[in-house]
Amino acid sequence: MITADALFEKLSHVTLGGTICRYSKDTCATLAPQINAINALKAQKNAIILAHSYVAPEIVYGVADHVGDSFELSKIAQSTSSDIIIFAAVKFMAETAKVLNPTKRVFIPSQINGCSLADSITVEGVQILRHTYPDHAFICYINTSAAVKAHCDCTVTSSNVYTIVEKYPNDRIYFLPDRLMGQNIANHLQSIGSTKIFDYYTGTCYVHEEYDPDMIAYIRSKHPQAAIVAHPECQPAIVDQATFVGSTSQMIQYVKTTTHDQYVLLTECGLTARLQAEEPQKQFIGSCTMCRYMKSNTLDHIQQCLESPHPSSEIHLDDATIQGANQSLAAMFRYAS
Ligand code: 13P
Ligand code: SF4
Repeated sequence: MITADALFEKLSHVTLGGTICRYSKDTCATLAPQINAINALKAQKNAIILAHSYVAPEIVYGVADHVGDSFELSKIAQSTSSDIIIFAAVKFMAETAKVLNPTKRVFIPSQINGCSLADSITVEGVQILRHTYPDHAFICYINTSAAVKAHCDCTVTSSNVYTIVEKYPNDRIYFLPDRLMGQNIANHLQSIGSTKIFDYYTGTCYVHEEYDPDMIAYIRSKHPQAAIVAHPECQPAIVDQATFVGSTSQMIQYVKTTTHDQYVLLTECGLTARLQAEEPQKQFIGSCTMCRYMKSNTLDHIQQCLESPHPSSEIHLDDATIQGANQSLAAMFRYAS
């Protein structure tokens, strides 16, 4: 059981999007009964709730069993013995859970299904590219549909992309769908003297492409001691001047294990919210951007998935897609280790 006071204690430092957007004691008193009802339902139905760090703090600190980045949550989805997986995140992550643990029922409580990266490439698009680049190995970012993964040789996440591209035993690689991450990988390969031929697609994350290198230079001039902590979906002009670059969980780990005066987090607002709650003594500056897809997960929709799920919130994939995508994910687990 969580009390309103305990919830307020956890969320009182979170200022989602601005200092006036604080969790009040009254808000926590309203949230606590619903959180307790969801946790009781979860136990009754033998369900597990996985939440990406970008979703609302009341999900992260109220009902989630595990919070993490896409790689960590995939591994938990693969090994869970719960009958039901509620994936508070975006559809491609819930699909990945279904591929990795197909006998479980997987539900997605988000109301706006999508991700600007996953939506930028279709199976037909991959087939055309395969025809154009017949000797390339196709490596896809986890931010793709299961159907697209099924047509690629290996999946990567932001936590292992550089390692896998380096290790992958093919001297021609086509990476999809993120153009900015593709440019960052190309720069990385060049910096280590790799001779691999590396091509990439044109998609972008609408949240991360917002960050402007001039804005970072301005923040740097005002706060020269601040650490710039960036996600690899940001553009190269930002990644190149960042103090640290990594997946969302690697960014959290970096902040927790360093002692800079201030931090600028160049990613979705949920990460700043998590660190404000977990590292209240540290200072976070600059603005953040919200992902409308991640933020469309709510306690109401999670409760509905447990009580009487709408058919459209359950993930269904055909056997061929599960098998194909599973091979691409198995290659990721093999090369990431
Ligand atoms: P992470 O795997 O780093 O959490 O990234 C997922 C994502 O969608 C970032 O926008
Ligand atoms: Fe997709 Fe960008 Fe949202 Fe991540 S932040 S889920 S890449 S739209």
